[in-house]
Amino acid sequence: MDKTKGHGLLRGKKGLILGALDERSIAWQVAEACKREGADFVLSNAPIALRYGKLQELADKTDSIIIGCDVTDYKQVTELINGTLERVGKIDFVLHAVGMSPHIRKDIPYEKLNYKLLQQTLDISAVSLHKILKACVEQDALNDGASILALSYIAAQRIFSKYTDMNDAKALLESIARNFGSRLAKRKIRVNTVSQSPTKTSAGTGIEGFNAMYEFAEKLSPLGNPTAEDCADYCVTLFSDLTRMVTMQNLFHDGGFVTNGISEDLIFELAELRKSKQSNS
Ligand SMILES: NC(=O)c1ccc[n+]([C@@H]2O[C@H](COP(=O)([O-])OP(=O)(O)OC[C@H]3O[C@@H](n4cnc5c(N)ncnc54)[C@H](O)[C@@H]3O)[C@@H](O)[C@H]2O)c1
Repeated sequence: MDKTKGHGLLRGKKGLILGALDERSIAWQVAEACKREGADFVLSNAPIALRYGKLQELADKTDSIIIGCDVTDYKQVTELINGTLERVGKIDFVLHAVGMSPHIRKDIPYEKLNYKLLQQTLDISAVSLHKILKACVEQDALNDGASILALSYIAAQRIFSKYTDMNDAKALLESIARNFGSRLAKRKIRVNTVSQSPTKTSAGTGIEGFNAMYEFAEKLSPLGNPTAEDCADYCVTLFSDLTRMVTMQNLFHDGGFVTNGISEDLIFELAELRKSKQSNS
């Protein structure tokens, strides 16, 4: 596939993309892919991220404007939606690519959660989707047939110990997507989550043991781990009209990880490990 050429899948569509920090960010790749496919959009991130991130570079590259917003603050969210309406008009697609756990940053295990910090994790990583959609509905900001996507992780269904309270945040995020999906469907608005494999981004690599999780997923997935660019292409299809009847789904974008029990690679490596343990004993 020639990545430089688009297919016009999003021609004429207007969007809002939250969560691009640097070129490793999944949202960054989504923004570039949406531009390639003909969309116009607003970029948003937390005011502090605008200071140390590289969002202006992406805005220049994609001819977009930036509106800062801390997604935990409902007033800022309403201003973001209002600003988007003013700058690009009614919205056809939204990408929620926002997540952060202070527990992961501070390496605090699940058994020792601090409830103030848990509230922050849930507010930033899950409740923010509710706030964005509530503000969109209140301001009548979505076009009929719009597509809303939030990025999730398989930790919503299976427990990954080092992901601590983000396991819970992703479960809540997926539930909020289903709840809004059911309520907005009468206007043919779709709300889905994309459950992406471990990806080498700022948020991803901040998780202790990330490299092991990444390699395990790479070896278990028959197709290997999809990159942020692969994820961006998948998001484009979900923003496009071609997927207009898909809603309230958590869609695994993981190279087959979720369905595979074990792989030949892993069997081989475990057998080798066993042999070396036996020869050392
Ligand atoms: N990287 C992975 O392995 C992986 C796998 C599956 C899902 N995801 C999800 O993808 C999404 C994007 O993450 P990423 O991996 O691209 O990393 P990233 O660090 O590039 O993106 C996370 C973004 O969240 C933003 N953010 C944090 N607090 C905020 C706040 N209060 N207000 C507004 N924005 C805020 C950050 O500034 C950052 O841009 C997240 O939801 C993440 O959980 C990531």
